[in-house]
Order: sequence, then structure tokens, then C-alpha cells
Amino acid sequence: MTAVCEYIPGLENIPVAESAISYVDGQKGVLEYRGIPIEELAQKSTFLETTYLLIWGVLPTKEELAAFENEIRFHRRIKYRIRDMMKCFPETGHPMDALQTSAAALGLFYSRRALNDSHYIREAVVRLIAKIPTMVAAFKSMRKGNDPIQPRDDLDYSTNFLYMLTERIPEPVAARVFDVCLILHAEHTMNASTFSAMVTSSTLTDPYGVIASAVGTLAGPLHGGANEEVIDMLEAIGSVENVRPYIEDCITNKKKIMGFGHRVYKVKDPRATILQGLAERLFEQMGHDRFYDIALELEKVVEEKLGHKGIYANVDFYSGLVYRKLGIPTDLYTPIFAIARVAGWLAHWREQISENRIFRPTQVYVGEHSRPYLPFHDRG
Ligand code: SDX
Repeated sequence: MTAVCEYIPGLENIPVAESAISYVDGQKGVLEYRGIPIEELAQKSTFLETTYLLIWGVLPTKEELAAFENEIRFHRRIKYRIRDMMKCFPETGHPMDALQTSAAALGLFYSRRALNDSHYIREAVVRLIAKIPTMVAAFKSMRKGNDPIQPRDDLDYSTNFLYMLTERIPEPVAARVFDVCLILHAEHTMNASTFSAMVTSSTLTDPYGVIASAVGTLAGPLHGGANEEVIDMLEAIGSVENVRPYIEDCITNKKKIMGFGHRVYKVKDPRATILQGLAERLFEQMGHDRFYDIALELEKVVEEKLGHKGIYANVDFYSGLVYRKLGIPTDLYTPIFAIARVAGWLAHWREQISENRIFRPTQVYVGEHSRPYLPFHDRG
């Protein structure tokens, strides 16, 4: 019988698994994927190469990467019955709810649970990495009553996704910046959605249900949903002059400032630094965005007021400005986070399934005991 430990709400700072996938040093602002610094991957890698590294633990050879990319291209299309299902979704529905529903629906077609079969595992990885972007883009088209734009096999992963949003081939700089955004969002140790994926996969269910659990968790504004809220906040602030009063009001009324703070980073999130650079690169090529001036002032004031509490910009603060410049609608920002994080969720799923051990924490019971069952006339 395991001894009951002290009650730690939400398992804060409690290690729940051993993992070799990624490493974060929150005091120094370090993030590594399989030991490689995020800055190097952002500069030199692609999202599919990084996905391969995260899931199988090694950088692929040229041939292995080409084979992986071809498998992804081959599996990009989604079943027409999933598209028909999406036609019944309300056009006012949030794309994260559409994604969670359609990710689970994949399990209706591919749910065999041969979790000890490396071929099945690879098939599930390829299908999810390939089909999630198509489902995100399909719902965007279909909720406006349009037919979904079909994926193009002649386009690379990020170019194809941006093409499926607009039916226009993006500028190479836009596709490259977007691909780096996917690298930056791919994995981040034991965050809430990854933990959700692991709890679900610990019951040995199919990988499609695992991803559906994780998508539902990522959708919340305290987690992946913050990127969309940041743009709404910048819009509400409206000008550089309004930044300081806005922040002072948040602090007085203990309102969380979206895009800031982190359970692990107590310095600026290294991903925010890279995303800021990507935003500036886009502004140089595609024109300035006045929201960036507001964001810079906001970051300065928050650091002045809350830096002493270790509250700095996180990954969600600048990502929205990049997507906005790429012309992506704000309610697709979190689905894009999900497109990237499927790589990390699947890496943890593959690393953990051999454990064969269900996640089942305990609780501290604070309720009553031995209460009598009362008939209606004795209640109220
Ligand atoms: C992601 O875990 C991951 O790795 C997540 C992620 C990933 O890649 O998977 O990095 C992605 O989710 C980034 C975070 C995106 N969320 C937001 O930007 C939402 C705003 N941020 C906060 O909600 C908050 O910072 C959290 C949820 C991210 C972390 O909160 P914690 O660690 O639970 O901190 P806390 O709520 O206990 O706050 C500690 C103190 C409190 O003040 P006191 O009551 O002690 O005086 O810091 C304050 C909080 O009020 N605080 C904030 C704040 N975040 C913390 N005050 C104002 N604005 C904020 N954003």
C-alpha cells in the first residue's frame, strides 16, 4: 500500500513521469527538444523534422525525413464522412471544439488498439500529424458554407496549411515563419494538455481519444487559449497611452494579463523572444502593425510592475501578432497551437504506452461520513 503524501493541488511541481523528450530550465529560460536548444531548431530545422526528432528521439537521415514527409502528404485528406459531419457543426462553434470532435471521430475509422505494434504507432502518428491541419482548415471553409480547399501534394507542410486557409500560395517568408511557429509550439514538458494526454493514454485507449482529450485541455484561456485573448486585449487597450492604466487596473482588480506569467518560466519565455523576432521579420517584409507598439509598451510596463514576481511574456504573447500579419483569423490561433502540439502529445504517448500503468492519483477527503438518506418531506 503506497503511503499517502502531502496534498499538492493540481500536482504543482510534482514529477509524474520520467521523460527524455524535452527539458525546461525556468530560471534560465532554457528549452531543449531531445537535448537540442530550441534556438537551433528554430533556425535550422523544419516542423516535420522536429516532429520526427520528438517522437523517435533522433534527427532523421535525409531518406528517413523524405519518407516521413511523403507519408504525411499521402495521408492529408480526411474521410468525406468526417467532412459531412462537420457540415452539421454550428457556424458559430469555436474551431477548437470542431477540432476536438473531429479528432475523436478519426477513432471511428482507425481505432484498432495495437499499441505494441510499431507499424500501428507510426500509422497513428502519420494520420494525426497529416490530418489535423486539414480538419482545422476544412471547418474554417465549411462554417462559411464553402467547400473545403483540398490539400495540395506539391506543397510542403506549412505552405499547404496556409494554402488551405486562403486557396492562395503564401510568400516563402510567410510559410517559413509559420513553420518556425509550429516548431516553437510543438512540445513543452508536462504542461496541462500533455498531462491530460498522458492520463488518457495510461488507460491504453486509442491515440485519437488521447489527442481529443489534449485538444479539449489546450483550449482553455489559461493554457493554449491565451494567444487569441492577447489580440483581444491589444484591441481593447487600443493605444500605447492606454497601456499603463490598463495594466494598473488589472493589478488592482487581480485580473490575469493574457500572454504573461508561467508556472515554470520566471524569466521571459525563450519562445516569446524568438516569436518577437519573427514578428519583426514579417513587419519588415509585409508592413508594420500598430498592435506591436502597444505590445512593446505592454511588455515594458508588465516587467516594471510584475517582473519582481517572475511574471514575464510567455509563448502566447507575440504569437498572435505573427498570425495576424499572416492574415489568420484569431479563432484559429489556438487550433494552430494544437496542430503543433500534436507532435509533443504523440511523443509522450509513444514514450509512455509501454509503461502499461494507469494514472490514478488519490485525494484528501473533506466531506462528511455516515449521513442518513432523507425522504423528500424531510429535505430542504
Ligand atoms: C501556456 O505549462 C506550460 O508549459 C504551458 C505552455 C506550453 O507550452 O504548453 O507554456 C503554454 O499555457 C502558456 C501560458 C498561457 N496562459 C496565459 O498567458 C494566461 C495568463 N497567465 C496566467 O493565467 C498564469 O501566469 C499561468 C496560468 C500561466 C501560470 O499561473 P500559475 O503558475 O498558476 O501562477 P498563479 O496563478 O499561482 O499566480 C502566482 C501569482 C499570483 O499573484 P498573488 O496572488 O500571489 O499575488 O502571480 C500572479 C497571480 O495573480 N500572476 C499574474 C499572472 N500570472 C500570474 N498576475 C497578472 N497576470 C498574469 N498573467
